[in-house]
Amino acid sequence: MRNILVTGGLGYIGSHTVVALQQMGFKVNIIDDLSNATEDALYEITEITGIKPGFFCIDLKDQAEVYRFFEHNKIDGIIHFAAYKAVSESVEKPLMYYRNNILGLLNILEAMESHNVDHFIFSSSCTVYGQADIMPIYENTPLKNPESPYGNTKKIGEEIIKDFIKISNKSAIVLRYFNPVGSHPKGTIGDFQPVPNNLLPYIVQTAIGIKESLNIFGHNYDTRDGTAIRDYIDVNDLADAHVKALKRLLSKSNKKNVEFFNLGSGIGSTVLEVVNAFEKANNIKIKYEIKPRRAGDIEQAYADYSLAKTELNWEPRISLESSMKTAWKFQQYLSIK
Ligand code: WQD
Repeated sequence: MRNILVTGGLGYIGSHTVVALQQMGFKVNIIDDLSNATEDALYEITEITGIKPGFFCIDLKDQAEVYRFFEHNKIDGIIHFAAYKAVSESVEKPLMYYRNNILGLLNILEAMESHNVDHFIFSSSCTVYGQADIMPIYENTPLKNPESPYGNTKKIGEEIIKDFIKISNKSAIVLRYFNPVGSHPKGTIGDFQPVPNNLLPYIVQTAIGIKESLNIFGHNYDTRDGTAIRDYIDVNDLADAHVKALKRLLSKSNKKNVEFFNLGSGIGSTVLEVVNAFEKANNIKIKYEIKPRRAGDIEQAYADYSLAKTELNWEPRISLESSMKTAWKFQQYLSIK
C-alpha cells in the first residue's frame, strides 16, 4: 500500500484530501503543527473513513524533527499543504510568513533528497497571477507580483520546486487553487477559521450570529454589480484533483518533471452573487454593509481549467449552491460541539 505524507493534513483542504486518499486505498501519514487546525479534525477524518491516519505534530521549520520522521517512515509521495495562509496577516508579519512557508518547504524538499522520495505535490494559489490582464486565467498566463507576502511565498515556492526538481530525477505537480469553499457532505470537517480571513467564513459567522453583519469590501469595481469577482471551487473537488495528480505521478504519466494546473470552477462570481447563493441555498438572510475596498484586493480572477481536465481527467462537479449548503452545515456543527 502506497504511503503518502500529507503536510498540513488537519487543515481545510488537507483534511478533505486525506479523506479522499484513504477512500482510494492510500496509507496516509499527516504532519501538522496544529497552528491552524485542531486534533478534532483527526477524529472527524477517522469517523468519516473508519481509518485513523498516522499523525505527527511537527513544526516543519524543525529540520531535525522532519529528518527523524523520514528516518522512521518510508514515504512514496508527499502532498504539501502546510503553510500560513492569511493574506492580511502576511502583510503585517512578512518575516513570519517567509520563515514558516519557505523554510518549511525547504526542509521537506531536503528530506525528499536525503530519503529518496520521488513524488511531490505543492499547494499553490491563483494569487501568483496577481491581477491578470485577461480572463480566464490559463497556466501560461504571465505571473505578476502577488498582492501579498503570502502570495509571494507561493510564487517563490514554485521557483524553488522548479530548480530542485530540475537537478533531480523526481517529479512534481503544482496545483494553483482559486477560492476554496464548502465542506465535506457530512459537515464535520471544513474551513475552520475561528477568526475569519475569507469571504465564506465571514458569511457563515454572520448567518449564525457570531458577526453582526458582513462587510462587503468595495462596490465600485468594474463588474456586473460593482463587487469583486472570484472563482469559487468546492473543497471536495479540490481533494479529488489532488488524488488524481498523485496517481499521475505514481504511474509516471506526467509529461514534464514539473507540471502546473489551475483548479477552479471556471465561473466568476461576484461577492453579492455568493451572498445571494448562500441566502438561497440555506433560506437565510445575510445582513451586510458596503465598505471601502480592502487593500491588496484584485478586481477579478477566474480560471480556465481545461489543462486539468485533459491531463488529470478532472473537472469541478460541485455547484456553488451545494458548497453554500455544506459550509453552513459545518458552521452549525461547530456551534453545537
Ligand atoms: C474574496 C472576495 C474580498 C471577506 C485569498 C488568497 C487565496 C486563497 C483565498 C488560500 C474579495 C471579498 C472577503 C469579507 C468581502 N487563500 N470579501 N468581505 O482574497 O480572493 O483570496 O484567499 O487558500 O490564495 O489570495 O479571498 O475570501 O478573502 O476574498 O467582501 O469579509 O470577497 O474583498 O473580493 P481572496 P477572500
